[in-house]
Amino acid sequence: MNTERKIPLILDGDPGHDDAIAWVLAAADPRFDIRAITAVAGNQTLAKVAENCRKIAALLHLDIEVAKGREVPLIADLMTGGDYHGETGLDGADLPAPEHPFSSRSAVEMMADVLRESEDPVIIVATGPQTNVAALLLAHPELKPKIRLVSIMGGGLRNGNWTSTAEFNILNDPEAAWILFHAGVPVLMCGLDVTEQAIIYPEEWQKLRSLHNRVADTVAAWLDFFSIKLKELGWEGVTLHDPCAVLALSHPEIFTIKECNVDVVLDGEYTRGLTMCTRTAKEQPASCRAVTGLDREKFVALLIEACRSFGGGEVTE
Ligand code: BDR
Ligand code: CA
Repeated sequence: MNTERKIPLILDGDPGHDDAIAWVLAAADPRFDIRAITAVAGNQTLAKVAENCRKIAALLHLDIEVAKGREVPLIADLMTGGDYHGETGLDGADLPAPEHPFSSRSAVEMMADVLRESEDPVIIVATGPQTNVAALLLAHPELKPKIRLVSIMGGGLRNGNWTSTAEFNILNDPEAAWILFHAGVPVLMCGLDVTEQAIIYPEEWQKLRSLHNRVADTVAAWLDFFSIKLKELGWEGVTLHDPCAVLALSHPEIFTIKECNVDVVLDGEYTRGLTMCTRTAKEQPASCRAVTGLDREKFVALLIEACRSFGGGEVTE
């Protein structure tokens, strides 16, 4: 990543424990300049995740407004992930009160303003359904050249998690995903291929508590909560899906990335929301870079280091 100028970022998501941890990573990296936070319905209703966005911004001392996006997918009905993320969408930790009111602009208006006003092209990190991003692309195709990259958590080339073929963010709004993959903007796809390898184990996140800073304590409390449902499903640790969409930007050297052409299946009782590589980069210029693997231990070390950067001491074993 070029370190000379800060890279402007828009964080679009549905926090959500792993969205929130992704944003901790983005806020900790001095090479990024977070210009906007936009909320999209997904893990919980828009009202709940948007409120979480404001509290996360306060926790991370991000002096920016939050804009609300769409309350429902473009065409589909909303499915929430309440079983995993709790009643608020971000259960498990007390968060600071929001410092700013909601923006009077919609998510699309805020994203469009950031793109228009930015001298450098902007990276959009989309860690929820791609509803807001698709709405932006439809409303403002003229701004596509201002989008350097859309880094998503979503999909996968091998399997699903919400159905056996579809991942939650894509299945929530497959039409939005289709619009993104067909928009002609560069996409970096952190799908389940990599995110199900991005596991942090309890003994690793307990170390965060020895840092004695509020961000680290909060991340540990989020991971405690998020692990409950995952344990019922047989996971020994927590799969950190959304943080991959940030770390694959900042630390591509720890990931395996494959160039390919990705499409989204919109129909079929068993296939709606499936993402697949339709042609290799040799057959057709690639529309996407799909992230397929990572060095797990380095990934965990980067998360601990990011939490440490918010103050406090050394990690003790
Ligand atoms: C995705 O679904 C959500 O529950 C997580 O926040 C992540 O974005 C994983 O399928
Ligand atoms: Ca998410």
